[in-house]
Amino acid sequence: MIQNLVIGNWKMNGSFAANEQLLDALLPALAGLETVGIALCPPFPYLSQADWRLKDSGIALGAQNLNEHEAGAHTGEVSAAMLKDLGCRYVLVGHSERRSLYGETDADTAAKFSAARAAGVVPVLCVGETLAERERDETTAVVYRQLDAIRSRLGARAFAGSVVAYEPVWAIGTGLSATPEQAQVVHAAIRQYLCECDTITGPDIALLYGGSVKADNAAALLAQPDINGALVGGAALDADAFAAICRAANG
Ligand code: PGA
Repeated sequence: MIQNLVIGNWKMNGSFAANEQLLDALLPALAGLETVGIALCPPFPYLSQADWRLKDSGIALGAQNLNEHEAGAHTGEVSAAMLKDLGCRYVLVGHSERRSLYGETDADTAAKFSAARAAGVVPVLCVGETLAERERDETTAVVYRQLDAIRSRLGARAFAGSVVAYEPVWAIGTGLSATPEQAQVVHAAIRQYLCECDTITGPDIALLYGGSVKADNAAALLAQPDINGALVGGAALDADAFAAICRAANG
């Protein structure tokens, strides 16, 4: 039985004051949700603030990005070891905004995935197709290509202990979520891929859905057999909405 996991991706939003307000509202609302795993991914400058506030809450800390190199002359970058040092359990890799706005390739994503694993930070691999790719019926091929990049770098066991998030690009930030049925089809294909990689660990890898998850569509998405949680963007900035999504994933 896979534990449901809800991850809030704050993207490039927040300030010390706004984060305090959000966490003041969120922490009591999330207290007592015992079966769902919850993590928050603030921007880098606020990781310590969030880490401090999340202490003893049972809510994990995650980062939105990392650099694939260990250390050295990479001005402006942040390594996996630094994230570990700051208390991060998770790090997003291959988010579609990194791929489309910052030119990160499948190979870059695989290098980041590898660096996270090496430092003991759980990579949350984001995969998903654009609208044009879906219309050309290429969804599975695109997602498998994104998974293949990890497997060809790290081998069939690469995914053990990681998290995979299916985020159709056309659903991110648009208010146009995939239907539960559309999402389940892709999640089942991802599950099949992971089980073919490794029959022992494949069935246990948490598969999250992301893309306009809101309080009113979370329960139906999470009721699908291969959806084990949510990667939440916009709604993660609203304490009531995020708490409602976490409640839907609890139990
Ligand atoms: P959204 O973002 O929930 O605002 O669609 C999801 C994400 O980018 O991870």
